[in-house]
Amino acid sequence: MSKTQEKDGDNVMESIISLCKRRGFIFQGSEIYGGLAGTWDYGPLGVALKNNIKKLWWKRFVDDRDDMYGVDAAILMNQKTWEASGHVGGFADPLVECSKCKHRFRADQLDAEATTKKKCPDCDGKLGETKSFNMMFKTHVGAGEDTASVSYLRPETAQGMFVNFKNIVDSFHPKLPFGLAQIGKAFRNEIAPRDFLFRAREFEQMEIEYFIKPPKDAKDSEWKKTFDNFVGEIKAFMADVGLDAKKVHELEVPDGERAHYSKHTIDFEFDWPFGRKELYGLAYRTDFDLKQHSDFSKVDLSYFDEDAKERFIPHCIEPSFGLDRTVLAVLCDAYREDDMGALDKEKVEKRIFLKLAPSVAPYKVAVFPLLKNKPELVKKAKEVFEMIKKEFSIKGVSGVTFDDNGNIGKRYRRQDEIGTPYCVTIDFDTLEKSAGVTVRDRDTGKQERVTEGELIDFLQNKL
Ligand code: GAP
Repeated sequence: MSKTQEKDGDNVMESIISLCKRRGFIFQGSEIYGGLAGTWDYGPLGVALKNNIKKLWWKRFVDDRDDMYGVDAAILMNQKTWEASGHVGGFADPLVECSKCKHRFRADQLDAEATTKKKCPDCDGKLGETKSFNMMFKTHVGAGEDTASVSYLRPETAQGMFVNFKNIVDSFHPKLPFGLAQIGKAFRNEIAPRDFLFRAREFEQMEIEYFIKPPKDAKDSEWKKTFDNFVGEIKAFMADVGLDAKKVHELEVPDGERAHYSKHTIDFEFDWPFGRKELYGLAYRTDFDLKQHSDFSKVDLSYFDEDAKERFIPHCIEPSFGLDRTVLAVLCDAYREDDMGALDKEKVEKRIFLKLAPSVAPYKVAVFPLLKNKPELVKKAKEVFEMIKKEFSIKGVSGVTFDDNGNIGKRYRRQDEIGTPYCVTIDFDTLEKSAGVTVRDRDTGKQERVTEGELIDFLQNKL
């Protein structure tokens, strides 16, 4: 059993959060003021990791397809949007408050004892009645603070696509089936934000609204083909970012537990260190949203099928991905601890490393001079760095860094912790014997000598 498995879930999460802060991936939001619960700030490496994930998603679901249209809608939307979507009336969680310590809890997340005895888990005080708490962040647009100026920070990116359905149809005349895709921020005033990026109040989603013909009758299950196709695409995307398929489980959400708009939902659950919980969702939203927006806006959102000479409101299949949950899943899946003392000949008991897939790793290759106080080594290392930077890329991304901070052992440790798959070192043999450079493999710690002429091909083949 590895050391990672020996640690319990809380400890693993603590280690991951600590690594993220130490190495500049992710920080607590507004940290110098004591933080703001449910918000997280990405540092340079976190941004790089997140951008790599976004690029892979956009490539798979937009660029590589000819039936997908990208949009980037405004976060603030006309308040009627959220009446039509059902969020004003129903986007709520059950809230209970302790009469003694005033702590607030989600009623459906309390354990059996707290629920039956109405006892506060924090202070044993008496819990009050369960109330419905709307999770949308309310704000006012403009100088007035009357009801007409009310708006909300969007709780999902989806509605930005439904309200643009007509714009895309009118400007691009797409043939069904086709989809709109969007990556952007979403906001939910979660009662109990928790588990690092898992449940935040501000997060990013990557969503698709894919429009299909309505079923001919109740028995028509054509929609299922599109739905199943997206099951395959979601799995393929998880492989793109390097997630272990064995940690992902499909859960068909039963009647009564699905969102109000959905006729069929599959949750893709992930084995997080804190248990098995939702990573992504795939829902058959029927014609619910376009119908609602047609009714509320009085704008006709039907589609005219030129071939069949028919007019109808399309149905919609929605794959919905949490971007920050993807970042967290990738980090949790990649986190490793092992004993590298022997491998690196250093008296270090434990090595922490991120076994990131090269496709998402912030850096694919790091280049070092063996010693930073030897100008001839530094000069040569800079030359090799520039050469790799210019010529090496994975799908157009170079991701090469130069590192001469601290001693070589510390540099390996740092690059291991940020998940860099390969480290290239320039030593005296490189200069004096033209013996090439050493290339160290993050996962095994093994080093190979590679000639400068072969270096690009070597790295390109490995990655
Ligand atoms: N448009 C459908 C929709 O928003 P959802 O299941 O509420 O469905 C979709 O959210 C995805 O957004 C989730 O599967 C999850 O990945 C992510 N997500 C939802 N709430 C989140 C939160 N509070 N923090 C981080 N990610 C969240």
